Amino acid sequence: MKHLLLICLEAFLPWDTGKPVRRGLSYPRTFEAIKKEIAGYRDVAKAIIDLAVHGKAQNRSYERLAVFADTIGPRLSGSTNLEAGIKYMFSALQEDRLENVHLEPVTVPHWERGEEFAVMLQPRNHSIAMLGLGSSVATPPEGIVAEVIVVTSFDELHRRAKEAKGKIVVYNEPFISYGETVRYRSQGAVEAAKVGAVASLIRSVAAFSIHSPHTGWQSYQPAVPRIPTACISVEDAEMMARMALRGTKIMVHLKMGAKTYPDSPSFNTVAEIVGSKYPEQVVLVSGHLDSWDVGQGAMDDGGGAFISWEALSLVKDLGLRPKRTLRVVLWTGEEQGGTGAQQYYQLHKENISNFDIVMESDAGTFRPSGLGFTGSAEAQDIMKEVMALLQPINVTAVYDGADGTDIDYWMRNGVPGASLYDDLSKYFWFHHSEGDTMTVQDPKEMNLCAAVWAVVSCVVADMEEMLPR
Ligand SMILES: *[C@@H]1O[C@H](CO)[C@@H](O)[C@H](O)[C@H]1NC(C)=O
Ligand SMILES: *[C@@H]1O[C@H](CO)[C@@H](O)[C@H](O)[C@H]1NC(C)=O
Ligand SMILES: *[C@@H]1O[C@H](CO)[C@@H](O)[C@H](O)[C@H]1NC(C)=O
Ligand SMILES: *[C@@H]1O[C@H](CO)[C@@H](O)[C@H](O)[C@H]1NC(C)=O
Ligand SMILES: [Zn+2]
Repeated sequence: MKHLLLICLEAFLPWDTGKPVRRGLSYPRTFEAIKKEIAGYRDVAKAIIDLAVHGKAQNRSYERLAVFADTIGPRLSGSTNLEAGIKYMFSALQEDRLENVHLEPVTVPHWERGEEFAVMLQPRNHSIAMLGLGSSVATPPEGIVAEVIVVTSFDELHRRAKEAKGKIVVYNEPFISYGETVRYRSQGAVEAAKVGAVASLIRSVAAFSIHSPHTGWQSYQPAVPRIPTACISVEDAEMMARMALRGTKIMVHLKMGAKTYPDSPSFNTVAEIVGSKYPEQVVLVSGHLDSWDVGQGAMDDGGGAFISWEALSLVKDLGLRPKRTLRVVLWTGEEQGGTGAQQYYQLHKENISNFDIVMESDAGTFRPSGLGFTGSAEAQDIMKEVMALLQPINVTAVYDGADGTDIDYWMRNGVPGASLYDDLSKYFWFHHSEGDTMTVQDPKEMNLCAAVWAVVSCVVADMEEMLPR
């Protein structure tokens, strides 16, 4: 049945007249017809690839991002840097002569780390590389001096709950995968506070480390005391674990000046190429413009934001105008729980039936391998045909499941979603750290990512029918 799309919608009634009466307005097309339609985009795809990878637009997304990242720097929600970044993009999208360039107001959390440090006092003086976690409370002005208890898991913490009272919990959890291990960052403080700890330090959720702390969001729970929490380097977490194993007493002085301010006004940044035939129907490409307050946010998610812009630039430069509207959205507030995207969904969900596909790139723009896709089996078969158009650069895979905080609301409510799959092997070396700079980005890899993004969005936006749900 795989190759006969929508065949189940062909209902014949009544059975006993012998004369089939078709329900519905139009004859569902066979998969063969759709395949043929998509194959007809081979030249369009080739033109996009040529322009992005070999032609005039070569390295453009990288070069645009380099100017942006070097000029604006990191873009924490609520910061003047993020405000400057949004203004910069608003002008840049206008100068690129995209259509309906506008800002959609939303509110985002506003947290600042302030002055902070951690010093080991015993068994020796040692400055601990640390970064407070997003939403953490401050320590008292003089800081906290306390003995350390090192655990490798929540289980161990619960087993040794009595020992943890009044101490600083250091989590030295092994890195398994981001998805699996990140709960120590997001819930470490809550679990430590439940057993009476005065602060928690989390081994950074990183696959590789040169003494770099990797920050990120964490969440408190109602009715659990809010204790200060920060991440430390893999090296320091392992050292303290070795010391503890030897029975050595460890004392740490932790000082954090973190502050949470009232929510701050911010904007999702939007631009379009308005559809020629179904302007109300939308293919959405996206990345987030906000970042952490360290590095330059070049990888997370400058790369995703700039290949999304590039997708529209490539389509426009070729003089193409797909039947549906191509819309780029540069989200704000992603790192603070996806608040920009959540408000976007609330505002626009009344038009959910007109959202053809929502796409997000937020897992690096390294060498691409394909697309993660969330949608029906029929839609997935169509996406496989679309991806076959990328044969010239050998990026044809369709994997099960799209990932993206900012498109999740739409996917959970039935809109097909896609995310870029790329070589993640180094992503968590740099993630949420001072190491997230332009040095991580590669122009040739970004060209390939931009080509994938442009071909997929352009073809889906121009097909006769929206993707089946
Ligand atoms: C694009 O970047 C690559 C890698 O840095 C470089 O070799 C190439 O010359 C650049 N192309 C253009 C047109 O600047
Ligand atoms: C550690 O540093 C503090 C202040 O910098 C100093 O007072 C103390 O003597 C040092 N301790 C050791 C063991 O060197
Ligand atoms: C919903 O779509 C209609 C038709 O395109 C448009 O006029 C309206 O502004 C849209 N509503 C929102 C909230 O975007
Ligand atoms: C094409 O990509 C596949 C999967 O990523 C890889 O195994 C293969 O070696 C690539 N082929 C070429 C010619 O690069
Ligand atoms: Zn991100």
